[in-house]
Amino acid sequence: MSADRILGIETSCDETAAAVVSRGTDVMSSVVSSQIELHARYGGVVPEVASRAHVELLMPVVAQAVVEAGVEDREIEAVAATYGPGLVGALLVGVSAAKAMSMVWDVPFVAVNHLEAHLYASFLEEPDLEMPLVILLVSGGHTSLIVMEDHLRYRVLGSTVDDAAGEAFDKVARHLGLGYPGGPVIDALSVDGDPNAIHFPRAMAKDGWDFSFSGVKTSVVNHVRKNPDTAIPDLAASFQEAVVDVLIDKARRAAREVGAKGLCLGGGVAANSRLREKLLDVCVEDGFRAFLPSRAMCTDNAAMVAAAAWWRLEADGPSPLNIGADPSLRLPVH
Ligand code: KG4
Ligand code: ZN
Repeated sequence: MSADRILGIETSCDETAAAVVSRGTDVMSSVVSSQIELHARYGGVVPEVASRAHVELLMPVVAQAVVEAGVEDREIEAVAATYGPGLVGALLVGVSAAKAMSMVWDVPFVAVNHLEAHLYASFLEEPDLEMPLVILLVSGGHTSLIVMEDHLRYRVLGSTVDDAAGEAFDKVARHLGLGYPGGPVIDALSVDGDPNAIHFPRAMAKDGWDFSFSGVKTSVVNHVRKNPDTAIPDLAASFQEAVVDVLIDKARRAAREVGAKGLCLGGGVAANSRLREKLLDVCVEDGFRAFLPSRAMCTDNAAMVAAAAWWRLEADGPSPLNIGADPSLRLPVH
């Protein structure tokens, strides 16, 4: 089954987003309302606060996305929403709204996997990406190294065994009193710091495909306890370098091993300047094509949800309306 214009909805964490995308590639509108300020004073996302905010924000955000796309409601041919992974209450807001709209407009409902959506963010900006593709998916909730063999066909080589990369950035920033979310602050501070000032551990760098980031976080905490006068930019840059080194080493090894045509980033941490710079460097050295989605497409948005929905609808048809939110959904593997 195919639908030209799909309305996508994203409410899995702390961004309320809606977008209209045509044929899985043409972004007609993409509206993201961030709740960061609501959660910042708690130092992280508070699930109940997120659900309530989604309830308040979702319909105005959807209305704005439809108006900005320049279409009428009746021109929307399918409605898609993220159904997992994420915070269950937050997911339910988007899923329920999408089902209701699909019933009122009498169009298909498509339940979208948030991780698959992050993978499709790259295809929105570069529809001709050649596969096999190695994708490093790094966000606040996930860190996975994925081989995409064809559309909707993936192999997960490895994942984090403890903290996600973004979670490590957020926890270190919180410990240093730098606010939430930590990634962008550490990224900005690192510009004035020396990445070699302190050598933090590169856990599991050489063995296997899995990642571990809780050790480097503890090392930063211990270092600060013993050396309270260390300059914050040096700490930030050295921590960032340790995380980026491991991510890049494994992604590069994976790309070589599977004979990838390209190496691609996805997820919120893909906005990190040092990660982007190093990925470009290794791709030039090894001759892989590098693809770095724009920062707006790396972080949570609904255009990527509508893009993934287009492929899913073509392959599997509409989702049943009795499908619920699945907070621990995994990437479908073949
Ligand atoms: O994909 P995303 O928007 O939400 C999740 O699905 O988790 O990712 C948010 C995560 C947060 O942990 C945030 O600190 C991190 O991405 N992040 C960054 C940067 N921008 C956002 N981490 C490192 N450097 C950045 N520039
Ligand atoms: Zn995400």
